[in-house]
Amino acid sequence: MKVLIIGSGGREHALVWKIAQSPKVTKIYCAPGNAGINNLAECVPIEADDLVGLLEFALAKKIDLTIVGPEVPLVLGIVDLFQRHSLAIFGPRAKAAAIEGSKSFAKELMDKYQIPTAKYGCFEEPQLAKSYIQVNGTPCVIKADGLAAGKGVVVATNLEEAFEAVDRLMNGGVPGTAGNKIVVEEFLQGQEVSVMALSDGKTVKPLAWAKDHKRAYEGEQGPNTGGMGTISPPPSYSEELAQLVTEKILQPTIDALATEGTLFQGVLFAGLMLTKDGPKVLEFNARFGDPETQVVLMRLENDLVEIIESVLQGNLSAIDLTWKEEAAVCVVLVSDGYPGKYEKGLEIKGLDTVREDGLEVFHAGTVLQEGKIVTAGGRVLGVTALAGDISKAAQRAYAAAEKIDYPNKRCRGDIGKL
Ligand code: AMP
Ligand code: GLY
Repeated sequence: MKVLIIGSGGREHALVWKIAQSPKVTKIYCAPGNAGINNLAECVPIEADDLVGLLEFALAKKIDLTIVGPEVPLVLGIVDLFQRHSLAIFGPRAKAAAIEGSKSFAKELMDKYQIPTAKYGCFEEPQLAKSYIQVNGTPCVIKADGLAAGKGVVVATNLEEAFEAVDRLMNGGVPGTAGNKIVVEEFLQGQEVSVMALSDGKTVKPLAWAKDHKRAYEGEQGPNTGGMGTISPPPSYSEELAQLVTEKILQPTIDALATEGTLFQGVLFAGLMLTKDGPKVLEFNARFGDPETQVVLMRLENDLVEIIESVLQGNLSAIDLTWKEEAAVCVVLVSDGYPGKYEKGLEIKGLDTVREDGLEVFHAGTVLQEGKIVTAGGRVLGVTALAGDISKAAQRAYAAAEKIDYPNKRCRGDIGKL
């Protein structure tokens, strides 16, 4: 079968790498892809938010299965569009993807169905948001309602910071209409964990748990980024806790959406805080995480195409997911300056020196330029290793990361070592 994967990051490289292992697959396209994906798939220069361009391509090439990486095309309705043209596509329709696209929609759904999350208020008027913050106090968390490419969440420790965040988010500080509405939330304390689950709309099958390291610097300091590294399984994982999360959060959310007439098919990704009062939802995403997918797919034993087919057929209950016992660690190499300004177009050397079993260098911001692989983004590569435990996997990933070089290379030194 012919598969199209949409996106250009480390997550999409991991998806292409895993899909390429399926005996069912004869050809993989990736739109737009990157320099690493280019070795496994045919990259086509269509952007992930060009829905019509993607549709025309999928129809012309008679694509049998499309897999959507990023959130923007999902929220824009790519699944609805492809389904109207009888094309098989993996991901939720726009109405269900609103669980990521609108934080107020997600909060109201959790409220209505008693899914544990932080206390909150939704506001369209800055003055009302500020009054709520004054009454409820700080620390608090202020979030733009819509998609904001990771820049829409502020943890405010005092009133001044909180008011500044309200003004910034509501006055053009985030793209488009994302800040027309904001959510103000209670600040939760605990360990964070990323739990992705497959769902066909009825059955929920959690994937292996992962932990993301979002802050730019060691010891969880500095600004939030798209993710500086991941580990799987996280130390907080236990079978009992996983069962609790499935029973109290994942299954009730899928059921709530179904009750509301919004079948969710795809990956439901819950960002959770493990508080002393139990796990609570920080956010939902409607897609695979990046860089969570890199570590989770390294550990997955099943054929991903078979799994996706079972989701699309509403038959996920028939699948048993199996996982490698080994742990996985992904260390993200970035361009120095990220998540702020950084230089691009710098040659990456040493990629050929790290070919080992159980070790993959997933490309994110890379591009082929005159036969050379050069940097093209903030997150450049995700060096991902398997080993007997997290600490050994981290050692392997860091040893490989050392052999790769480009002028403004930087990474956190504490992934898998905390
Ligand atoms: P989100 O995009 O909503 O996951 O928020 C980004 C990051 O902000 C999360 O990964 C957390 O580290 C932090 N965060 C979000 N909501 C809260 C909360 N209610 N309490 C504490 N930290 C939060
Ligand atoms: N790593 C967090 C995300 O994919 O949103």
